Amino acid sequence: MTQSAIGIVGLGVMGANLALNLSHKGFRLSVYNRTAALTSAFMHAHGQGRAIAVADSLQDLVSQLGSPRVILLMVTAGPAVEAIIEQLLPWLDAGDILIDGGNSYYQDTDRRWRELAAKGIHFVGMGVSGGEDGARFGPSLMPGGAAAAWPTIRDMFQTIAAQVDGLPCCQWLGDGGAGHYVKMIHNGIEYGDMQLIAEVCHLMQHALGLSHDAMADCFAAWNGGRLESYLVQITALILRQRDRDGRPLVDSILDQAGQKGTGVWTAQDALDEAVPLTLITEAVHARMLSARKSERLAAAALLGSVPTRVPVAQRAMYLDALHDALYAAKLVSYTQGFMLMQSAATKHGWALPFGDIALLWRAGCIIRSRFLGDIKNSFARDPVPPSLLQDPFFAAEVKNAEAGWRKAVMLAVGHGIAAPALSSALAFYDGYRCAYGSSNIIQAQRDCFGAHTYQRLDRDAASHFHTRWLGDGGEEKLP
Ligand code: 6PG
Repeated sequence: MTQSAIGIVGLGVMGANLALNLSHKGFRLSVYNRTAALTSAFMHAHGQGRAIAVADSLQDLVSQLGSPRVILLMVTAGPAVEAIIEQLLPWLDAGDILIDGGNSYYQDTDRRWRELAAKGIHFVGMGVSGGEDGARFGPSLMPGGAAAAWPTIRDMFQTIAAQVDGLPCCQWLGDGGAGHYVKMIHNGIEYGDMQLIAEVCHLMQHALGLSHDAMADCFAAWNGGRLESYLVQITALILRQRDRDGRPLVDSILDQAGQKGTGVWTAQDALDEAVPLTLITEAVHARMLSARKSERLAAAALLGSVPTRVPVAQRAMYLDALHDALYAAKLVSYTQGFMLMQSAATKHGWALPFGDIALLWRAGCIIRSRFLGDIKNSFARDPVPPSLLQDPFFAAEVKNAEAGWRKAVMLAVGHGIAAPALSSALAFYDGYRCAYGSSNIIQAQRDCFGAHTYQRLDRDAASHFHTRWLGDGGEEKLP
């Protein structure tokens, strides 16, 4: 019997579409799904004329694969991944390759990579982005884990990934949980981009009084410029969608955002790493606040008011401001996201290829955008700037956008419309570009109530001082 190049476990939306992509690119595959009915439906719809073999058990799947076996798990992150690995293990041999293509937590991936390495199994955690269409026609793939697996799987995954200028959106990212870590950051950035766009839509509708078609026209136009991106593109499409009664569908959608956890992981990781990832964290908080619908309804009755609208004559000026605010805030978000990855790379000993990461997000994934090409250029500079905000190109861009950004945030504040991502990004920017900030006061307070000491600007920077604030006012230099 001809053996398959790869076995896929899990024929949900992503698993099924990756299977079709692999098959379309000429890879013979075997598929297994716990619920046999799903496998039958998949084969009924797509099996005709394709080199796809069905396995009726995990053991059967393993028996259909060439050596070393390559098995891609496309099951829900968490206990299901653990269970499938346990069930597969008795049938695997040293050198076989197990790939987890779900949104697994990178620390779980790291642990599985270690545990499986001890059994001779090469474990790969691979972030897969792009939703249904991406999986089918070219996803962005973020593999990491057992480097020994890469030569075997490289061709297969680089072939099915999205391509930009002849380069596949799939590069090896490092050992352990590196691949799933980068996917986690991708998702955090996705949360931030989505929140920024939602805030801009809300301001357009409620502060500027724009119709949905006018909003859609705006996003479509923006998609032809600096803001060109998948999320901006689909926002135009979403705003044009009408319900059966002809009204904009979005106005009938419950304003409670769901989340599966990757945004929270990103924010938690940033806190652990002491990286100020304010925008993505605000985006997570905004989803959490949105979930308190009944409480918000009561608060609206008690505290709410209908926002006033700007005069029609000022709309064009504010639309330009919103464009600039979206662009500048997005730049802050990516600056923070890359800061976090840089910190994680140091902590985990990963040589994360930052420029390649920007490139592999340029197509196939949810955050794909023109902007990522400029980020790649920044990481190609010698020396690499300390952060994207200090890159000469981005510094000039953000300065150009600054006036509009402030106008947009003032619009939100003045009209009582929440824009936490736009405004926290501006606060970060103002804090970041401030050579002498407000923390001198915090240090003085800490020293006053708790003798926590402070350092001085005008004396030996390594020395610590304490002032007897509540006593005679004298200062002591600590040994
Ligand atoms: C992707 C997405 C995807 C994610 C969804 C939903 O890259 O294709 O990031 O992996 O699962 O976007 O995420 P939330 O339910 O957390 O919004």
